[in-house]
Amino acid sequence: MQDILDELQRRREQARAGGGEERIERQHRRGKLTARERIDALLDDGSFEEYDMFVEHRCAEFGMAEKKFAGDGVVTGWGAIDGRTVFVMAKDFTVFGGSLSEAHAEKMVKVMDMAIKTGAPVIGLFDAGGARIQEGVASLAGYGEVFLRNVQASGVIPQISVIMGPCAGGDVYSPAMTDFIFMVRDTSYMFVTGPDVVKAVTNEEVTAAELGGADVHTKRSSVADGAFANDLQAMLHIRKLIGFLPSSNREAPPEVATRDDPAREEPSLDTLIPDNPNQPYDMMELVEKVVDEGDVFPIQPDFARNVITGFARLEGRSVGIVANQPMVLAGVLDADASRKAARFVRFCDAFNIPIVTFVDVPGFMPGTAQEYGGLIKHGAKLLFAYTQATVPMVTVITRKAYGGAYVVMASKHIGCDVNYAWPTAEIAVMGAKGAAEILFRRDADDPERLAERIAQYEERFANPFIAAERGYLDDVIMPHSTRRRICRALKMLRAKHETQPAKKHDNIPL
Ligand code: HXC
Repeated sequence: MQDILDELQRRREQARAGGGEERIERQHRRGKLTARERIDALLDDGSFEEYDMFVEHRCAEFGMAEKKFAGDGVVTGWGAIDGRTVFVMAKDFTVFGGSLSEAHAEKMVKVMDMAIKTGAPVIGLFDAGGARIQEGVASLAGYGEVFLRNVQASGVIPQISVIMGPCAGGDVYSPAMTDFIFMVRDTSYMFVTGPDVVKAVTNEEVTAAELGGADVHTKRSSVADGAFANDLQAMLHIRKLIGFLPSSNREAPPEVATRDDPAREEPSLDTLIPDNPNQPYDMMELVEKVVDEGDVFPIQPDFARNVITGFARLEGRSVGIVANQPMVLAGVLDADASRKAARFVRFCDAFNIPIVTFVDVPGFMPGTAQEYGGLIKHGAKLLFAYTQATVPMVTVITRKAYGGAYVVMASKHIGCDVNYAWPTAEIAVMGAKGAAEILFRRDADDPERLAERIAQYEERFANPFIAAERGYLDDVIMPHSTRRRICRALKMLRAKHETQPAKKHDNIPL
């Protein structure tokens, strides 16, 4: 009997050794943790239950029959984060560079199917070179099965990907279909094909960092939603993010205890808006002063910084924050900001997370660069996303809400539930100067007369009361009472139930 137990122990140890000491050493030298070390850092102590640690590949080509590693390059299973079940798939770079074989894909599919059935998030830790080259089409077929699960799970359970090493091919396409992608600075890269292939095909010489490092994907391409300093930091942040999310679309997000009084007043907000309407102020200051304990988990903080998106809590319950940022491009909506906010709104709506929108927007960005870049379609994404959302929505206009951007930014007209404005709000078709120059073109050569016209326009329209008189705003509120008013509105909206007409699915302007 002891022999049998010893054999199990031996096999377990062998599986836990992955690709062997030397490759583990190399992984550590690169500043990366192993798959199992990452899982340990991610999950509650001792909660990991591993699946399929004895699975091996079935390939016999290229001498592969002699090269087998128990687990076959991916560690899968389930465990808990703050006591809540999550499923995990962690690529093991020490085994064939984490590349995906048929058997490896079956392991991934097994946890994804179980996660969908039981309604729990899937967290993928990627450090892998894509399709296992030795397996050919069997590996591609395996990716197809994984992609199918990614899509079936989309909108049902949160799917989070963390890129923790060089990732190519299917190991970037599968993450691309999940809800969030995070990277680790300096050790992770994402590309469809790596620098060597790029050189061979296009003759372009480029480093891995230039092609697909964290800077590229968090600042330029917007493929990634954030980046962290190292593996450990990344795991801690993912634990935090999970705390904001429901386990599935069948549940509400978790409620956490807070000492922050929902009725807390914030007198400093009464002086946040500068006297000069063209002077910026930091919208993040407002967001942090309103939400529980000033705690915000930003999504895409380094991309399209003219709009803020992130998770926070009010009265201990998760909310999605969308806010124009006057500090960057005056908070204008351009193609990038529209796409960023639209995707965030869709996530919140899919997962029962109420949306709080703070508006200070001078309009959509004019010009050829934007028009050629498809601003119309990208702006329409945000309009579509808000209009389609049925979760509770509360909007506060702090200053400018001009033109189409007023309508788009969660106005009453497209289905927002509670709309407030500060007394400093200016709701109009456009800014006073632009309006006066069009309406009073004949006065354009007479600066004094034009200034008079601008002042007239400002007096008439640069306030919230015309909108309030029509009921487009539910109230004009004191800035210091913003937290209390939003908390009360969200409490009233907890019982909100709204459905859309039956359809197969919509046709959002992609
Ligand atoms: C088999 C692989 C592999 C792969 C890496 N390895 N990628 N084995 N299939 N795809 C192995 C290496 O042979 C090596 O084995 C070990 O993993 C580490 O790889 P290195 O090259 O030494 O590491 P590094 O220099 O860090 O480079 C990592 C890398 C590079 C950037 C990922 O290995 C690479 O470019 N790999 C190929 C990527 C690729 O083109 N994949 C196919 C994508 S197509 P030893 O034994 O030395 O440890 C695809 C289609 C899916 O995925 C469908 C999409 C729609």
